Amino acid sequence: MLFGIVAVLLALCLCRHVLADAADHNADSFTNPVLWEDLADLDIFRVDDAWYYSASTMHYSPGAPILRSYDLINWEYIGHSVPTLEWSSKYNLTGNERAYVKGIWASTMRYRKSNDKWYWLGCIESGKTYVYTAPSVTGPWSLASTLSTCFYDAGLFIDDDDTMYVAYGNTRLSVAQLSPDGLSIVKTQQVYSSPGNIGTLEGSRMYKYNGQYYILTTRPANAEYVLKASSPFGSYSIKILANSLSPPAAGGGNPHQGGIVDTPNGNWYYMAFEDAYPGGRIPVLAPITWGSDGFPVLTTSGGGWGVTYPMPMTAHPLPALIGTDSFLGPDLSHQWEWNHNPDTTKFNISNGLTLNTATVTNDLYAARNTLTHRIHGPISTATIVLDTTNMADGDRAGLSLFRDQSAWIGVLNDSGSLKVGMVNSITMDASWRTTNTGRTAATANVSKGTIYLRCNVNISPGAGRTGTFSYSTDGASFTNLGTAFALTTDWHYFIGYRWGIFNYATKALGGFVTVSSFTQDVS
Ligand SMILES: *[C@@H]1O[C@H](CO)[C@@H](O)[C@H](O)[C@H]1NC(C)=O
Ligand SMILES: *[C@@H]1O[C@H](CO)[C@@H](O)[C@H](O)[C@H]1NC(C)=O
Ligand SMILES: *[C@@H]1O[C@H](CO)[C@@H](O)[C@H](O)[C@H]1NC(C)=O
Ligand SMILES: *[C@@H]1O[C@H](CO)[C@@H](O)[C@H](O)[C@H]1NC(C)=O
Repeated sequence: MLFGIVAVLLALCLCRHVLADAADHNADSFTNPVLWEDLADLDIFRVDDAWYYSASTMHYSPGAPILRSYDLINWEYIGHSVPTLEWSSKYNLTGNERAYVKGIWASTMRYRKSNDKWYWLGCIESGKTYVYTAPSVTGPWSLASTLSTCFYDAGLFIDDDDTMYVAYGNTRLSVAQLSPDGLSIVKTQQVYSSPGNIGTLEGSRMYKYNGQYYILTTRPANAEYVLKASSPFGSYSIKILANSLSPPAAGGGNPHQGGIVDTPNGNWYYMAFEDAYPGGRIPVLAPITWGSDGFPVLTTSGGGWGVTYPMPMTAHPLPALIGTDSFLGPDLSHQWEWNHNPDTTKFNISNGLTLNTATVTNDLYAARNTLTHRIHGPISTATIVLDTTNMADGDRAGLSLFRDQSAWIGVLNDSGSLKVGMVNSITMDASWRTTNTGRTAATANVSKGTIYLRCNVNISPGAGRTGTFSYSTDGASFTNLGTAFALTTDWHYFIGYRWGIFNYATKALGGFVTVSSFTQDVS
């Protein structure tokens, strides 16, 4: 009997992981989205037997995560191209300065064989373009050059003769040729102007195939076009690759933007993203073939983007992206990004995450050192184990559903009365000014020590998605607190909901909490 129960529990447990990573562990086919996490504006490329993936992070720090795969389906986070958002003091979230929705937009990354260097570049706030390089993909990455031209939505391309080009722009698309070291501009020229019947084009990615030059470009937010020419500077002809295709994750937007890659045995794929708010923008993959006119053709399924396709190659599983992080240290794992640059003197990771309060404020959006993590969809439960012993009077610490409309469950120390509370209605306007610092929906008395804070959320695309919060003092029996929180599906903040672990002071600095683990489970 006992063995039976154990076997059933084990089966349930395994089953949960198989479901969570259904895309990852089937020998013959994969399921879209390939990775249900917010990884927008992807740039993807192959070096030998591995693929690399770079994505937008806006005001989250470090920026531009790097993922690696050996089969295009299973991915692991291996680092970031931008160690710190160093372009302006507002990225430090100090004083009244904030940089929400600024920072890293569609950017680009490549490996250059001739000098064994990795390059990342991106235009920040429609101003300058910053070039970061690294001797190894895992770093150290550092700022190598600042260009005065904005390479808006840049796509870096390294030609067979090692010349570096960047395709960029909005609607009027340009190609720049870089200097031999890749750190300055030799020339730049407009190569295409989108006609009125196509409209806005952006999100350029540049390639060469069979002697021809290609620029993939997106019409937001429902189509992908391909430009083709026999020279990098044109003249380009255009054809549509994906037009308003039904998305694999029901209820989301049409797959668009992204890039193409080949496999070592010569098959080609297009990785796009699907708008899937409240969760963000999630990567979807489909095979392409090359037509007799030299343009790529997407392999659709039932007239839309397929939910499943055959595996590109033998599956190469990687460690699960869900599960428990016990903050062993000394560094955070690469799945974590801070809200703005952190105050590095106010945290420490060593068998647990210690967060000292870093800001005195009533406003979660003004508090430094909120540590964020992408939510793994579609339905996810996060639990943190928090030690409140050293919270100071006025402190608030806990777990949030973090976006421009946020909610949290956390511990409040109000003049020595320690309560666990659920707070909602924490909002920013479209200029990212705080419009409401929150409303306490419910509280319960707790004693100091260890508390488990939990949130369960559905981030499947579509309205009506909610998060519910609960807490426990023993880690076994959880009590719901507050009301179901309705997630916003607005796109204008771009980044989807994240888990946010926070600790801020409302009276004075000096208190701290320790988070001994973060666990994310998916169903
Ligand atoms: C941001 O803060 C860091 C460390 O606290 C500091 O070194 C840096 O100069 C600040 N950045 C700007 C642009 O002010
Ligand atoms: C880090 O936190 C631990 C307790 O969690 C403490 O023992 C250690 O001294 C801290 N280290 C630093 C550098 O603050
Ligand atoms: C909460 O604040 C009171 C002061 O009002 C302080 O004595 C206490 O140590 C604080 N922390 C906890 C966990 O109660
Ligand atoms: C919660 O604690 C406060 C004192 O800190 C007390 O006045 C109140 O009655 C308690 N509430 C409950 C429901 O026990």
